[in-house]
Amino acid sequence: MSAPVVSCQSSSCPNGHPPSRLECPTCHKLGITGSFFCGQECFKANWKTHKIVHDLVTPRQTLLNDPNINKDGTFNPFGTFKFTGPLRPVYPLSPRRPVPDHIVRPDYAETGIPTSENRRAGQPPKILTLEEQETMRNVCKLSREILDLAAAAIRPGITTDELDEIVHNASIERGGYPSPLNYRNYPKSVCTSINEVICHGIPDKRKLQEGDIVNIDVSFYKDGFHSDLNETYPVGQVDEDSKRLMRTARKTLDESIKLCKPGALFRDLGKTIEPIARQNGCSVVRTYCGHGINDLFHPAPSIPHYAKNKAIGTMRPGMTFTIEPMINLGHWDLEHWPDNWTATTIDGKRSAQFEETLLITETGVEVLTAGKPREDLQ
Ligand code: MF3
Ligand code: CO
Repeated sequence: MSAPVVSCQSSSCPNGHPPSRLECPTCHKLGITGSFFCGQECFKANWKTHKIVHDLVTPRQTLLNDPNINKDGTFNPFGTFKFTGPLRPVYPLSPRRPVPDHIVRPDYAETGIPTSENRRAGQPPKILTLEEQETMRNVCKLSREILDLAAAAIRPGITTDELDEIVHNASIERGGYPSPLNYRNYPKSVCTSINEVICHGIPDKRKLQEGDIVNIDVSFYKDGFHSDLNETYPVGQVDEDSKRLMRTARKTLDESIKLCKPGALFRDLGKTIEPIARQNGCSVVRTYCGHGINDLFHPAPSIPHYAKNKAIGTMRPGMTFTIEPMINLGHWDLEHWPDNWTATTIDGKRSAQFEETLLITETGVEVLTAGKPREDLQ
């Protein structure tokens, strides 16, 4: 059977639109069907009017060929940005996750501005009462449960947005608020930092891949207090450099915790952390620090992780704070994505981090967020 014959498509065909077989080659290429003309002359005479249909489909063709747009409609929102490594964001982000009305929120939950934190900037570290310490113990224990739940879901193919959903729901189920959500306008309920991302990665639609490493950083607010902890995990089998990096990051945290007791100086922690990093061929991030944590998310003190720092302050019983060394395989310096949150290594090499919330007791230190030792880091 022959193809149906189309009449001449020229609006001004002088020949009375006879059946035609001359197809517009551009339409043919673009996949526009039915553009037939009775002859070259008619085609040429009608060209000005006809070629508009090419432009109508061209935007779609451009989108299909845009390397920033994936076949499934997800896309890289920072197309012209020069990334330092291979990782790319996968947008759109999922809509903001709602928090039920019965959950008590920190002051920034609606506005994005931590008013009380800003107001108390420069104040000395808070000493918690025994009752407040008991509240911190409970909040920290719950945050450890939340992190462990999210970590158990790690597998190739899961998106970091799905990890965010797990953390968000687990926080609400435990009667608390996921501290990151809208803190200084942060859009999600947890930070997920993959490979060359040092910290503050925003959960998105990227699927975890075999060989990735991913840090999950959980912060949780309940009964008026925040907790904060994170760990870095392998996705399936990872290379030896990544294992060395994760082991080193864990070791710097564990060794620095051993220094914590009443009378110890915050500035001395970096003196233990940096040599361990260097001995293992790694560097210590200087931009982000550990911090006090109590009824505020990031109060004093600020705790640098590098050697020869000038941090102020002495540990006292009743203080709660984090240590959270970020350790890089390459250079220590970082750069931010245009989302103004995601901090990546300057050279695109991988970074790992572990964090615990600590309480200084009369005799030493209690790791309030402690979990089971990780078999894979031994
Ligand atoms: N949890 C991070 C920390 O260790 C802070 C995250 S702030 C956020 O201090 F807004 F990015 F969530
Ligand atoms: Co922290």
